[in-house]
Amino acid sequence: MSAPTERLARHLRGASSWHTIEHHPEVTSTNDVAHARVAEGATPGLVVVADRQTQGRGRSGRTWADVTGRSLLSSYLLGVPREDATLIPLAGGLAVVEALRRFGVRPRLKWPNDVLLGDGKVAGILAERYAATGDRPAHVVLGIGINVDWRGVERDETTASWASVAEEADRDVDRFEVLAELLHPLDQWLQAVATSPQRVLGLYRERCATIGREVRVTTADGEVRGRAVDLARSGALVLERPDGAAITVTAGDVVHLRRAG
Ligand code: BTN
Repeated sequence: MSAPTERLARHLRGASSWHTIEHHPEVTSTNDVAHARVAEGATPGLVVVADRQTQGRGRSGRTWADVTGRSLLSSYLLGVPREDATLIPLAGGLAVVEALRRFGVRPRLKWPNDVLLGDGKVAGILAERYAATGDRPAHVVLGIGINVDWRGVERDETTASWASVAEEADRDVDRFEVLAELLHPLDQWLQAVATSPQRVLGLYRERCATIGREVRVTTADGEVRGRAVDLARSGALVLERPDGAAITVTAGDVVHLRRAG
């Protein structure tokens, strides 16, 4: 067991769905490791954490950048809920917001599940759903990447606008402390997907910086513009177009335009 794994194991005590935390110095992607473990018999409740990813994945086929030891790179193995699986990434976003608030910062959500500090992205969430195969039951891998301490880190084009918790809080922040603060709310909000989906949607609306904004959304079918007015029951974004028509967007990349007056 690596030293961080031993230290992290302390956080598994108490009522929680998480039963094992694996720590790795380097992996392709923590999501890959969690998925591979299912073929080896791993059950929901496994958590995989790494110091570095060589092929970190983001949404829409993008890569997810990290600097060794400066981000919390983590994946959570979940079963597939009978209903409302589309709310899983939203629940993940709520849990990240709750965890980061413990460090004195006030994150907001950009639909569907970017976590922002000011206008800068501090965390991203990637939920990957797998159907059952011969050797694996159906499962979901929820990947969460949080930029914890990027002080002094040189940014590139992609990361130029990224924020980090330590920069915003203006103090040292340890990524394993962030994980410790994340485990409980993540468990609670994931359970709420099954038991009280309206609570997930209700708090998401409150924490969401997108609702009320003029937005441009790039979807698989092209670009749509309008004012984000609500979330649908599935967690999809409801837009009011300039002609007054309402449209619902299930997936896409949002750009916040000017604030609605
Ligand atoms: C996004 O905003 O595009 C989602 C980013 C998700 C990144 C995390 S880091 C841990 C896990 N492993 C990955 O390869 N991706 C997710």
